[in-house]
Amino acid sequence: MSATLIDGRALASALRISVRQKVAELVARGVRPCLAVILVGNDPASRIYVRNKSRASEDTGALSELHEFPDHTAEAALLERIAALNADPRVHGILVQLPLPAQIRTGRVLEAVSPEKDVDGFHLHNLGALVAGRAGFVPCTPAGIIKMITHAGVPLAGRHAVVLGRSNIVGKPMALLLLREDATVTICHSKTRDLALITRQADILVAAVGRAKMVTGAMVKPGACVIDVGINRLADGSLAGDVDFASVKEVAGHLTPVPGGVGPMTVAMLLANTARAAERALAGRAEPR
Ligand code: GUN
Repeated sequence: MSATLIDGRALASALRISVRQKVAELVARGVRPCLAVILVGNDPASRIYVRNKSRASEDTGALSELHEFPDHTAEAALLERIAALNADPRVHGILVQLPLPAQIRTGRVLEAVSPEKDVDGFHLHNLGALVAGRAGFVPCTPAGIIKMITHAGVPLAGRHAVVLGRSNIVGKPMALLLLREDATVTICHSKTRDLALITRQADILVAAVGRAKMVTGAMVKPGACVIDVGINRLADGSLAGDVDFASVKEVAGHLTPVPGGVGPMTVAMLLANTARAAERALAGRAEPR
């Protein structure tokens, strides 16, 4: 048996069409959504991600502006730029690409972004709203994953979802979103014992650990829905997810490929959040709903 692949590119492209429509409506009402992207340093992967996000944003008819800073930038300079972007009514979304260089306190920078412009959903205000089940911006990768699972027709209510990884960007918000969908959720991490024993109980398994091919077919329950968040560069230059695609596809019911799975959905959700931020600004409401 071979798993059904969940095509993130196709789903993202459908989502982008609906965002394009929303952007056109906003433009007709006098507002062109604008995303400001802040990039510090020369991390090659970050550069590629930022370029993809900016291009995709412009493709919807929105504006995107890149704010580049050298690697040695002081935290104060970054905070000053964020304050200016917060105050600029032309700008609806602000994204600070992570990771930031070591001299900069990431928390301080993320907390400086106005929650109404926090299209990444990384501000404590938005994370708190997620914990409390209130309206707010939700981090793009886990939000896209929920869309992929539901689009594939995989039920979540009452099912056991296991999340591998506890990062603030993916693992923790992912667990909260799965809980919101009434799944029974287990979070595993580097100190978890008997990992395979737990993963083999998962109806939905989300791998977000950043270790190439660490989830093998022997760790997966037959028929499970397996979501691969990893993008790892192998020694030969090729890309691999956190999931060993060859062995898992023989066991899983659904599986996301890398590339072409979660990545395109993350970008599509960012565009949707940016359009929503512009819509909220136009309506004069501070809280995203
Ligand atoms: N670095 C890795 N993933 C992300 C993301 O989703 N948003 C930002 N801003 N930085 C990242």
